[in-house]
Amino acid sequence: MELFETINTRYSAKNLKTDAVPRDMLEKILDAGNHAPNHYRVRPWRLFVLSGGSRNKLGEVRAASQLDRMPDAPKEAIDNIRALPLRAPVIITVGVEKPVEKKVIGEENIAAVSAACQNILLAAHALGLGAIWRTGEWARDAKVKEFFGLAEDQTISGFIYIGYPEIVTESAVRPSFEDRTTWME
Ligand SMILES: Cc1cc2nc3c(=O)[nH]c(=O)nc-3n(C[C@H](O)[C@H](O)[C@H](O)COP(=O)(O)O)c2cc1C
Repeated sequence: MELFETINTRYSAKNLKTDAVPRDMLEKILDAGNHAPNHYRVRPWRLFVLSGGSRNKLGEVRAASQLDRMPDAPKEAIDNIRALPLRAPVIITVGVEKPVEKKVIGEENIAAVSAACQNILLAAHALGLGAIWRTGEWARDAKVKEFFGLAEDQTISGFIYIGYPEIVTESAVRPSFEDRTTWME
């Protein structure tokens, strides 16, 4: 797919089939993420590729965390939370490495990881897959971070759900860039 076509036709695919995504496609997608620009070449993204039972484990962690917060939560609500990671055959959890060297800036690492996320979304779309970038409270959840071996003060930029789309959807019509743009001469 041509670059502008890929950018302009990408959409968030909410409904994904359960079919597995071939490993070579996932490697292409991860490689695209890894090509994102990043200051000082620190490659601050940390990519966790979940498929199969690891999605159930993530669901268990989320359910346990919700029960910590709301011990009286109805079983059905907890079951729903547990099932959330099963909405896609693959989830790429994208974490952000905190700066080690003094010159590296945390916000810039987050910016670079956002660029990696967009590359991942575009690569998935170009390969005919569906993808959606999800966050929610789970991206800030201490137990979820622990599950991925991330420190509590580290950022999870998102959980990118990937699979074959149930329905190929048209990209939403966007307002023009004009009202967000100032031409300065
Ligand atoms: C940082 C970030 C977090 C997002 N979190 C969610 C989310 O938790 N749930 C969701 O349904 N979509 C989420 N989205 C996707 C947006 O809702 C989606 O991109 C937006 O509605 C525009 O639709 P489009 O991607 O089809 O153009 C997120 C997008 C970004 C960039």
